[in-house]
Amino acid sequence: MLIALQDITFEFGARTIVEDSSWHIVPGDRVGLIGLNGTGKSTLLRIINGEYTISKGSINKIKNLSLGFFNQDLLSFETDDSILSVGMTAFEQALKVEKELEELTAKLEHSQDEALLHEYSDKLHEFDTLDGYNIRHKTATVLEGLGFSTADLDRPYNQFSGGWRMRVLLAKLILQQPDVLMLDEPTNHLDLPSIEWLEKYLANYNGAVIIVSHDRYFLDRMVNKIVELYQQELHHYAGNYSDYEEEKGLRRELQQRAYENQQDYIRQQERFIERFKAKASKAAQAQSIAKRLDKLERVEQVDGGPSKIRMNFSVDKMPGKILCTLEGVDKSFGPIQVLKNAGAEITRGDKIALIGANGKGKSTLLRIIAGTEPISGNRIPGHNVVTSFYAQHQLESLHLDNEILEELKGCGSGKTEMELRSLLGCFLFQGDDVFKKIRILSGGEKARVALAKVIIGQANFLMLDEPTNHLDINSVEMLIDALGKYEGSLVLVSHDRYFVSKTANKIWEIVDGEIKEFKGTYAEWEEWKKRQALAAMPPKPEKKSAATARPEPVKAPEPARNNAIDKDLRKELQKQQKQFQQLEQQISALKSRLQQLETDMADPGVYADKQKFQATETAYKEANATLSKANAAYEEAFEKVMELEQKAQG
Ligand SMILES: Nc1ncnc2c1ncn2[C@@H]1O[C@H](COP(=O)(O)OP(=O)(O)OP(=O)(O)O)[C@@H](O)[C@H]1O
Ligand SMILES: [Mg+2]
Repeated sequence: MLIALQDITFEFGARTIVEDSSWHIVPGDRVGLIGLNGTGKSTLLRIINGEYTISKGSINKIKNLSLGFFNQDLLSFETDDSILSVGMTAFEQALKVEKELEELTAKLEHSQDEALLHEYSDKLHEFDTLDGYNIRHKTATVLEGLGFSTADLDRPYNQFSGGWRMRVLLAKLILQQPDVLMLDEPTNHLDLPSIEWLEKYLANYNGAVIIVSHDRYFLDRMVNKIVELYQQELHHYAGNYSDYEEEKGLRRELQQRAYENQQDYIRQQERFIERFKAKASKAAQAQSIAKRLDKLERVEQVDGGPSKIRMNFSVDKMPGKILCTLEGVDKSFGPIQVLKNAGAEITRGDKIALIGANGKGKSTLLRIIAGTEPISGNRIPGHNVVTSFYAQHQLESLHLDNEILEELKGCGSGKTEMELRSLLGCFLFQGDDVFKKIRILSGGEKARVALAKVIIGQANFLMLDEPTNHLDINSVEMLIDALGKYEGSLVLVSHDRYFVSKTANKIWEIVDGEIKEFKGTYAEWEEWKKRQALAAMPPKPEKKSAATARPEPVKAPEPARNNAIDKDLRKELQKQQKQFQQLEQQISALKSRLQQLETDMADPGVYADKQKFQATETAYKEANATLSKANAAYEEAFEKVMELEQKAQG
């Protein structure tokens, strides 16, 4: 065991983040820590890292545990050193010895002291043991795996953008090889090739790895355990993300059923209490039932997911028919030519997704369209076009001391506070949430604020670079919904295929420096690609391999069933409960009949007719007698049910 969290509770003021939860981290663990935006995943990592103090429970770590924590705070780190030397600081001890060796060498030039020579040879040995000769090479390998070119390695750290800096720090962390490596949403800063590299690298990692991620493909390949923070508790699942989803479905069903059964039970007991609390012979019992109900541990209802709110995102100013034209555009970065005599046109109503492997080219093209990237060639903006750009560093441009509502007031949409609040509702900030300070928001919450600012501002043309980063599954759905209703036009870059398929009506791809347009959705584009690939291939005989059998997926253990309840007992209980319910229904039917008869008897028409009156009166008496019998039976049945339930509970 490396770390043991035992029955821990932690709150931010009145808000509980995690309650009475345990988690044991063992060597070799590959854990995916999941949960909706703002449930407290990052907070939990900080708790493990010792930054917050829990209010209940205990946290134990093995002696000398080394812990590596990759998180957003690292962004504040600054230096002029080359990225290679930043990466190499992972090997603190080796660097220290290397420096000492240099000093000794300098001294030895002037002296032949025995002791000094001894020290020198000892240090040399230590350096060798620390694998000191290899640290440069190791660092370079990891940096290149994360997407840096060999030429990049000597460039100063400060020259790189936020996303690329994060990669350097990630490289450093994994080179340190801590016993426990905690990565908070590492894939937000990576493109597909780097993600794949990281997957491979971590597969052979010696220590335990905890990953927070909303990327299910990544989790599926990386982890063998899932810990979910849900309704303030940690829930443990064996297997990867897909296994988790399956098991979670089952557990939700069970929980929902247990919840409904319990609600039935509670209603029944409450009816009994209501009925008998005034009756002397039963009052004591009613009271004890009430007490028992109070003590009953309530099953929580399964969340229904976020509520959908209808809203239109209209634009103030209608732009001309053509929003932007590119003609003969050339763009290179040193020897790399991104665009070569490229042309394209964006018309009103376009929702374009820029896709393709070349990560750098897509963001560049987005900036070219926005007019923020110098080019040779023509970029002709349309009339009345107001653009807005959502980039990854957008989160950093939020004002940390503002409250959410204030932050939105500042974006010049001219909307009233009421309108802003209801719009914020669409972005999943309800009620008092809008008064939260930006500073304390989780990554996903910040992303939602930044997106809200971009979408409800005055722009009629949006440029969105990786807008689904940080967002959980519900928030992605929210964004799809909002963009679907957005009346302006947009161009977006995204690695999330699901998101692209739900938002775009045109697909752009950069092929050999040109912009290729496909008029249709992502699914249609994929279909078209397939057909093209087939047409390009010479017909081949069908080959079916027998070796495609996949290993069985790891199954999570079945939820424990309560075998203690004897089958017969349960049957009997069910029978009695049914009877009890029937009696309840009968009683309520009898009561309404009695009421009806009473009204009838008061009716002058009946009253005046002696025969009629007598018949009604008899019926009334009969019904009354049946009612008291039913009541007696009801009490009896109830007692039986109680007795059986007590037995069943052991
Ligand atoms: N210092 C603080 N004081 C009060 N509330 C805080 C503080 N820090 C965070 N919170 C709140 O606690 C909740 C949990 O935040 P946390 O960053 O741990 O969420 P998360 O699960 O990592 O979410 P995401 O998926 O969006 O990154 C959020 O609602 C956040 O607003
Ligand atoms: Mg977080």
